[in-house]
Amino acid sequence: MQIKKEMKMADAIHRNYLLLPVINRLGIQLGFQDKTIEKVCLKQNVDVEFFLTILNAYLDTNDKSSKQLQAHSVKDVVSYLLKTHSYYLERIIPEIENRINLLIQHSQLNKNEFLLVKNFFEEYKKELYGHISLEENFVYPYMIEIADAYHSKSLSKTLEDKINSYPITSYEKEHSDIEAKLFDLKNILIKYLPTPNDSYIRNRILMELFTLEQDLNDHSRIENRVLIPKITQMETALIALKK
Ligand SMILES: [Fe+2]
Ligand SMILES: [Fe+2]
Repeated sequence: MQIKKEMKMADAIHRNYLLLPVINRLGIQLGFQDKTIEKVCLKQNVDVEFFLTILNAYLDTNDKSSKQLQAHSVKDVVSYLLKTHSYYLERIIPEIENRINLLIQHSQLNKNEFLLVKNFFEEYKKELYGHISLEENFVYPYMIEIADAYHSKSLSKTLEDKINSYPITSYEKEHSDIEAKLFDLKNILIKYLPTPNDSYIRNRILMELFTLEQDLNDHSRIENRVLIPKITQMETALIALKK
């Protein structure tokens, strides 16, 4: 069942608590009493249709939800994705890092075991930062440029060259699987480290990793299934202007 604007905002959270950071990124903070989604969005000046589409796309991963999201502007979608990047870099990654440091402080691991986890995590972090910086510095600005040109129906020579030399589909090919390393990190914690007296800290790290993975899946799905097809269509239409 889809989330609708008449539903109470609190009920959406009760339905799936993983929506909490999603709602925050869209500009809504807690404390919404019994107000409906529509009322809360109106009060906070948030576009209710976009809000609902993002929430429903998170809950329902079928093609229909990607299509609904495609109806929204590239700028709105990119601005939401930028907020999720900041959430990973400023909140989630430092939090997981702090918990990993607890593994040695609480003597759950000896130094070598700790370094194995720590180095693996550092590598993952580097990959994630690289991925995000490529998107923020090149891919997203290119998408915005394409969308602007498409709406004004004008294609400059520079943009035409960019489309011909590095169309969005080349990014799709390079859109590396940042979830793969996360899976390996989870397995080190689940399978390969020695059995601790108490698994609590490791469980907490694992829960954070699973939650991050789910959020990243949603994020990549929006990039792959919403933005890339939309930009590809715009590129084709723009090139057709020259013919
Ligand atoms: Fe991204
Ligand atoms: Fe990405």
